[in-house]
Amino acid sequence: MNFQLTEEHLAVQQAARDFAQNELLPGVIERDTEQKFPKDQIKKMGELGFMGMMVDPKYNGGGMDSISYVLAMEEISKVDASVSVCMSVNNSLVCWGLEKYGTEEQKEKYLKRLAAGEIIGAFCLSEPEAGSDATSQRTTAEDKGDHYLLNGTKNWITNGNSASVYIVIAQTDAAKKHKGINALIVEKGMPGFVVGKKEDKMGIRGSDTHSLMFTDVKVPKANRIGDDGFGFSFAMTTLNGGRIGIASQALGIAAGAYELALTYSKERKAFGKNLSEHQAIQFKLAEMATKIDAARLLVHQAAWRKDQRQDFVKAAAMAKLFASQIAQEVTTEAVQIHGGYGYVKEYHVERLMRDAKITQIYEGTTEIQKMVISRELLK
Ligand code: CAA
Repeated sequence: MNFQLTEEHLAVQQAARDFAQNELLPGVIERDTEQKFPKDQIKKMGELGFMGMMVDPKYNGGGMDSISYVLAMEEISKVDASVSVCMSVNNSLVCWGLEKYGTEEQKEKYLKRLAAGEIIGAFCLSEPEAGSDATSQRTTAEDKGDHYLLNGTKNWITNGNSASVYIVIAQTDAAKKHKGINALIVEKGMPGFVVGKKEDKMGIRGSDTHSLMFTDVKVPKANRIGDDGFGFSFAMTTLNGGRIGIASQALGIAAGAYELALTYSKERKAFGKNLSEHQAIQFKLAEMATKIDAARLLVHQAAWRKDQRQDFVKAAAMAKLFASQIAQEVTTEAVQIHGGYGYVKEYHVERLMRDAKITQIYEGTTEIQKMVISRELLK
């Protein structure tokens, strides 16, 4: 068993770390406070190849493996999880799904620009009454011969306003239940497509999360991904990979908070010595570091299995379940170690603690991960 990262992996990790420190750290508090989308930062990430990391170079991607991707995700998430969620959705949910299941025409028209980071994408599954219960899609895509007529509302859509391309999951034939669902590529600006209100969120406040409304939107048949009725399977398969991205985001949030707490403990004095010289703090640091290492092993295992073309459904759900759980615990402890300073924005850990929570909710709640894992165990 080899735990050694390759030279290429180390180079990607370093590039992401440098980018996060130099380009994301300045301004991260302001973006969080003002709920400002990191438009310029995402543009630069596109130029550096972080928005389509795993896509084949012939479609303008980086041609990298999933290990490179999770390494980059971890580094970016240590500093700005609002940026990394945009990166994760574009890489894992939009580019990956299009490359794997899209037609050549769709790849030429959409994937090339998405992978290059010229435009960004959104993945639209959740609805006001269909979050975890994703088979209960109310958005309809009525078959009209050469096009679908799309009607309905999507909720909590990451990149909701900043995206140009949206993969929308909708019900075509209700009698067929989940086998009557389709995945359609919808462009911003198509008549009848309106971006709704922006959510005022607890965390990842720099990312733009919106509801979307579709009223008689004509979507050409050429924009359907896969065969008729493939949409739910497409969504589930894509989310399996997406969970590796969100697991690495949770890992990064935890690792970022831990690194800040470690540094602080060596600088701050209490009762005549550094915090790090108190056993109460040493034990906290030891627990935090152990949890982070365990989460990293699960994340890398899931990414490795995906790269090896092995079944990774259980591994991805386990990585997300565990990493999102320890992200809660580690960020809370990081705030505790910082004491009063931890409760104010300047020291970053309060933001990381707020950001951590969403990793237990999106791309499948904690409970959904347990469902996925137990089904895999019992099948
Ligand atoms: N991988 C592949 N296929 C899967 C799957 C998986 N993990 N889970 C289910 N399926 C397939 C099943 O095989 C079945 O297909 P067949 O009939 O062809 O065999 C079909 O999906 C339906 O499965 P179930 O009957 O088991 O459906 P269910 O309703 O009991 O439960 C579920 C399915 C796993 C709970 C699913 O609804 C689910 O994953 N829900 C969570 C949805 C989710 O993650 N939403 C996140 C929104 S996206 C997001 O957050 C992005 C963002 O902005 C950051």
